[in-house]
Amino acid sequence: MTSRILVTGGAGFIGSAYVRALLGPAGPPGVSVTVLDKLTYAGSLARLDPVRGHPGLTFVHGDVCDAVTVRRLAAGHDEIVHFAAESHVDRSIQDGTGFTHTNVMGTHTLLDAALRHGVRTFVQISTDEVYGSIPEGAAREEDPLRPSSPYAASKAAADLVALAHHHTHGLDVRVTRCSNNFGPYQHPEKAVPRFVATLLTGGDLPVYGDGRQVRDWLHVDDHVRAVELVRTAGRPGQTYNIGGGTSLTNLDLAHRLLRWCGAGPERITHVEDRKGHDRRYAVDHGKITAELGYRPRVGFEAALAATADWYRTHRAWWEPLLESV
Ligand SMILES: NC(=O)c1ccc[n+]([C@@H]2O[C@H](COP(=O)([O-])OP(=O)(O)OC[C@H]3O[C@@H](n4cnc5c(N)ncnc54)[C@H](O)[C@@H]3O)[C@@H](O)[C@H]2O)c1
Repeated sequence: MTSRILVTGGAGFIGSAYVRALLGPAGPPGVSVTVLDKLTYAGSLARLDPVRGHPGLTFVHGDVCDAVTVRRLAAGHDEIVHFAAESHVDRSIQDGTGFTHTNVMGTHTLLDAALRHGVRTFVQISTDEVYGSIPEGAAREEDPLRPSSPYAASKAAADLVALAHHHTHGLDVRVTRCSNNFGPYQHPEKAVPRFVATLLTGGDLPVYGDGRQVRDWLHVDDHVRAVELVRTAGRPGQTYNIGGGTSLTNLDLAHRLLRWCGAGPERITHVEDRKGHDRRYAVDHGKITAELGYRPRVGFEAALAATADWYRTHRAWWEPLLESV
């Protein structure tokens, strides 16, 4: 089926990977994409270089909170895949105002426009952080939301607003909640590129607190595949967890990257822990596997090394971004 898809945050790390996949050689036929992105410190048009000039791609520089722009765009699109967000937990701890504004009001503005203009499908990209810290086991979609950080709270609020538009108005909303992504083109404020950039520039790895916080790691290509399954075959009003299947402490991650660059553990520095730092995240992705056939395909060890190699060979992309870290 042909589709005009509005991808918000398409100049960000994950949104751009999704756009490159949609418009790449293995992408679905008959799809055109409009990227709506504010190009905050986190946005980078260079991430779209591989599809620059593609006849199916349009870029709009704008804000998801701007109702006039959003309504105009919604009127010309069949589907919305909503990645745009303020996404860095540490920044939300320093000042969460912009997080509530963009993540909650921006989502609300898009949903309202989708409803007014008969948008067929709305995919809300969320996070496992909405479940809060999970001492054991893995969060399932129907579990209560217990977000800890202002970032996670803004994403949880956005999910609820999105699902309310389904329950109240019948809008076809689908929510995805993924774990920690890694891959090329991620801003160096995030753990994997931050560690790699630090190693490549001769510094010590800053590990929060005791480093025993546990995270599940998901390669961005697996995430993109899962989002595409949800867009094309998910059910209205449903939430789907997306995990990567590799659970590591932050200290384990640091040790793996030290080995990648041939450095020893003396290059780890424990720094003051993040305020309210969640101890453990884990998601059960059995639902998306059973319903849509999703399975992570990317092997973690090789993909982590390939990702680190990518940063080694793309210094010109990330070095200027260190100023905003
Ligand atoms: N990176 C992860 O590991 C991860 C994990 C779970 C969930 N998520 C979610 O996935 C989505 C994408 O994350 P990411 O890592 O690609 O984020 P990112 O920070 O790399 O990109 C966010 C993009 O949104 C744009 N943006 C920000 N505010 C905007 C606004 N008001 N209007 C329009 N555009 C705006 C930015 O310019 C940027 O291009 C987010 O919704 C995030 O919450 C990310």
